Amino acid sequence: MPKTTSVWECQNCGSQFPKWAGKCPECGKWNSLVETPISQTVPAVSNRYQTGVEPQAAVDWKKVSGSEKLHIPTAIVELNRVLGGGLVPGGVSLIAGEPGIGKSTLLSQLALNIENVLYINGEESSPQVANRLRRLQPKSQAKITLLADTNIDSVVGRIKRGLGLVVVDSIQVMYSSELRSAPGSIGQIRECALKLINAAKSMEVPVMLVGHFTKSGEVAGPKLLEHMVDAVLVLEGERSGNFRMLRAVKNRFGAVDEVGLFAMNDGGMREVTNPGELLIGDTAGKLPGSVLGCVLEGQRPLVLEIQALTVPSKLPLPRRVGHGINEHRLQLLCAVIEKHLGLGVGEKDVFVNVAGGLRSQDPGLDLAVVAAIISSANGRTKDKGRRTKEIRERQLPAFSSSSLSLGVEDLQPSAFSLIFCGEVGLLGEVRQVQGWDRREKEVGRLQLGKLVGSNQIKTITKLQEYL
Ligand code: TYD
Ligand code: MG
Repeated sequence: MPKTTSVWECQNCGSQFPKWAGKCPECGKWNSLVETPISQTVPAVSNRYQTGVEPQAAVDWKKVSGSEKLHIPTAIVELNRVLGGGLVPGGVSLIAGEPGIGKSTLLSQLALNIENVLYINGEESSPQVANRLRRLQPKSQAKITLLADTNIDSVVGRIKRGLGLVVVDSIQVMYSSELRSAPGSIGQIRECALKLINAAKSMEVPVMLVGHFTKSGEVAGPKLLEHMVDAVLVLEGERSGNFRMLRAVKNRFGAVDEVGLFAMNDGGMREVTNPGELLIGDTAGKLPGSVLGCVLEGQRPLVLEIQALTVPSKLPLPRRVGHGINEHRLQLLCAVIEKHLGLGVGEKDVFVNVAGGLRSQDPGLDLAVVAAIISSANGRTKDKGRRTKEIRERQLPAFSSSSLSLGVEDLQPSAFSLIFCGEVGLLGEVRQVQGWDRREKEVGRLQLGKLVGSNQIKTITKLQEYL
């Protein structure tokens, strides 16, 4: 019999099999088995994870003193909010996101405001990082040591007590010479992360790892990586827009229902304290197809503009295109509108956009989406066309990027009057959403108008009366 020279290793869970299969029998993930030569797989030595440290003695928990102050606040308030207060000595956080979303920028800004930082720039050259640091804070004298190295052992050797922060950009390019598999493979990521975690814990230094996203939107590498680190933060946003949201999906040192808001601009990631400036356009709620809605991201209510466009379709199967909202949800809402309202949406292409580039999964968005589609389909705003006529008859100034928007003051103050929020069911009924008080408070704070939901509007047929 020929000698087996390779195994099939799941890139998701690390299980090994003698034969290929479309689906990993262990974790159930499709297309995750990759042929790996036996010599290159992780050696199955039981003490592989030991780092030469003496075994720890077991102790009575009552005799263990908890540190009084766990978090060290950073200069970036929105980041502190997501981290549960700030950096934790010995804590390892993973920041994941699509390429070019701003992970390195955010961590560079963080590094510039911390004393004594070790920045492992495995992906970029040191001059590249130095230039970015200089661009972000031209006159900064911050003590940041750059190390363009991808060998995990030499990196770990430099993690010393007293460092304010260690940034590893990114974990996917790190490799351990003990393994012969390529950097980014499951074994390498696992091994490198483990060494970094051990070093962070023993030296009591906070470590931030950068992680990549796969095409399907998961953190690349083994799921195990997410289990190993203390916090997983995901940076999201449309690359074409400048709105970015940092969300904690796991946090051992704080709550996971916090989000941090940023805007990417020339000076780096700017913290956004008033999200309305990015999420609500000047004409919001004043033109047919534009309404205001309110979503809850984590514990944070955000008032935003939803825009819809309906046009007669030339296709046998009209298109439903959503930016920032789930397209399956949009299809469902279009079907509900078609069934209950008879606006001819079944023969129209429907495009829906959440202004500002925010992506939301909140079911509370449904009512605003339906309202925007109705508003676009019947060509009316909520004051039944009066304002539309008024706008149409206005002499708009000549086009220039600054005069493109109509300006809030140009329109009547009553224009901002309704903010829609509710879940829409298959029967066309409007349901209550969670966190109503929180949302109402935010709407009140912004003085934009009145939040309407299932208490005022029971069905989407009723909604038509409001538009
Ligand atoms: P980067 O942080 O390198 O992304 P990541 O590390 O997540 O891959 O950011 C890349 C983008 O950010 C790039 O397209 C340029 C843009 N950018 C700005 O708009 N302003 C800035 O100040 C910086 C540093 C980058
Ligand atoms: Mg980067």
